[in-house]
Amino acid sequence: MTPPLTRRGLLAGGAATMVGALAARPTGQAPPAPAAEPFDGVHQAGIATPPQAHAVFAGFDLRAGTGREAIGRLLRLLTDDARRLTAGRPALADTEPELATVPARLTVTFGFGPGLFAAADLESPVRPLPPFKTDHLRKQWSGADLLVHIGSDDTLTLAHALRMIVKDARAFARVRWTQRGFRRTASSGETQRNLMGQLDGTVNPTDLDRAVWISDGPQWLRGGTTLVLRRIRMKLEEWDATDRVGREFTIGRRLDNGAPLTGRYERDEPDFDQVTRVGFPVISEFAHIRRARVEDPGLRILRRPYNYDEGLSPDGRSDSGLLFASYQADIERQFIPIQRRLAEGDLLNEWVTTIGSAVFAIPPGCSPTGWIGERLLA
Ligand code: HEM
Repeated sequence: MTPPLTRRGLLAGGAATMVGALAARPTGQAPPAPAAEPFDGVHQAGIATPPQAHAVFAGFDLRAGTGREAIGRLLRLLTDDARRLTAGRPALADTEPELATVPARLTVTFGFGPGLFAAADLESPVRPLPPFKTDHLRKQWSGADLLVHIGSDDTLTLAHALRMIVKDARAFARVRWTQRGFRRTASSGETQRNLMGQLDGTVNPTDLDRAVWISDGPQWLRGGTTLVLRRIRMKLEEWDATDRVGREFTIGRRLDNGAPLTGRYERDEPDFDQVTRVGFPVISEFAHIRRARVEDPGLRILRRPYNYDEGLSPDGRSDSGLLFASYQADIERQFIPIQRRLAEGDLLNEWVTTIGSAVFAIPPGCSPTGWIGERLLA
């Protein structure tokens, strides 16, 4: 007969497992934290990492007089914080060490904006995007010298990591903006959905060595990439008033399973030549997926977006949209041509407005004794 499950039995079983695990490990070594993403490596974590459920993008401006040497000190400090926290260990002088024990796939990714290079008297590999006629950019969401992008499946872990980073950066930089986002993870079993209800993330590059990681140009940036972060507000009230046919026509894909309007399944290739009985294209020339399409897989952008929802504005309208994060080896060759085609004529423009924009060079990862940006700033 199987013995009944009891709390005591479970605890005893748990203790037995623990003893076994400890016996296998050399004494004095801390057990590895559950669900920890490695921090050190050729590339920084948080880009190819399967997206976590929660993220915050924090943009900092360097304080006046913070030059190359001080930026180096700041990055040594923040790298140390990131390396500890992602492994489930408290930061140095952590005020709440108990909050550091559950990394929940925590990643901390650093990016350098044009202002950081100017402050360090170095040539910037990135510059702000040209203006697009659909932009309504607000200063409060645009630009920044230094980006710290934190992701985790646990919001408490995320909040604590951000607090430690902000505390240690304070002498060198002040926060310009923080942008928080959320999404469904891969464990939901489907491509994540944005707040318009669409499956968002179907077509992404598969060969990141060609499309995302930098392999030429300045030596210090090889293994790195670039990030374009756009804050795109959705007019959800107007979207909600649009019928389903209109919504699917706007994107060129079905809402239920994300299939192109010419196919049955999400992964079917769209057929842009298919026409209706009266001769109109099934996928409109102005449909989002048609305007955004890039045929050369090496020139695709890696979209890793997060939803944002700041509740309701005082006028009762939703303040929500997408933190559109796009990673690519070359902004000019990959991101800008797509954004230009969208600005010139994308049906989606009626329901979305870009209100923030920032660009960053994302340095490569580092060795267990190195720090992010070392090859540039040491
Ligand atoms: C709130 C704004 C946006 C929404 C709601 C949105 C939504 C979508 C959806 C539903 C798809 C189809 C599914 C997929 O492949 O993921 C898609 C595809 C795509 N979007 Fe967007 N998007 C937005 C902004 C942008 C921006 C700003 C860009 C780039 C400048 C962009 C580039 C792309 C690309 C490259 C594809 C794949 C096209 C293909 O080859 O099929 N999107 N987007």
